[in-house]
Amino acid sequence: MSGHGVCPWWAGYFLASSLRRWLQDPEKILKPYVKDGMRVMDVGSAMGFFTLPLAKLVGDQGRVIAVDLQEKMIRSLQRRAQKAGLAGRIETRICSSTSLEIDDLAGSVDVALAFAVLHEMPDSAAAILSIAQSLKGGGLFLMAEPTGHVSAEGFRQTSEVALQQGLEVVAEPIIWHSHAMVLRKPA
Ligand SMILES: C[S@@+](CC[C@H](N)C(=O)[O-])C[C@H]1O[C@@H](n2cnc3c(N)ncnc32)[C@H](O)[C@@H]1O
Repeated sequence: MSGHGVCPWWAGYFLASSLRRWLQDPEKILKPYVKDGMRVMDVGSAMGFFTLPLAKLVGDQGRVIAVDLQEKMIRSLQRRAQKAGLAGRIETRICSSTSLEIDDLAGSVDVALAFAVLHEMPDSAAAILSIAQSLKGGGLFLMAEPTGHVSAEGFRQTSEVALQQGLEVVAEPIIWHSHAMVLRKPA
């Protein structure tokens, strides 16, 4: 369920490449769930492949909290956000490998995203618990894992942890090369 090792910082350039948009279009993936003015969180943001589109979708009044373990990823994300004129909507945080350090966000997040990150964590169950706690009642959690690294059974086990937190499945979007699920925290 976890412990595949953290992706090296330089892989962040491939993850943020424009070629990837053809296969995993971030706007198309996120738009059904993210609305103007929302407070959203991007867990394992890397250099911001999803963070920047999230910042566009939440608009001027919204906020994106990007959390990552690697300082180099976060520094690059900050530069890219600056260049795109979106830095004012994005708060960046560097966490530790064993804790997302988001207790202060409890009950305040409308949408949380964890894309291709849970399998890299030494304790993904603890991260899912923190994410569930950060959500507002009615808030959504979109989790996706790469099929190349995570088996269908591995993803089922991960989703089981989310269900044990009381989250409910609302959608299973089709995303290239990914297992994906959207869960809602009951209101
Ligand atoms: C494969 S990348 C995916 C990045 C991004 N979500 C995307 O889809 O483009 C995984 C990212 O998760 C971060 N990461 C790994 N373990 C983490 C942890 N325990 N807490 C927070 N971030 C972590 C890595 O530093 C890396 O930036």
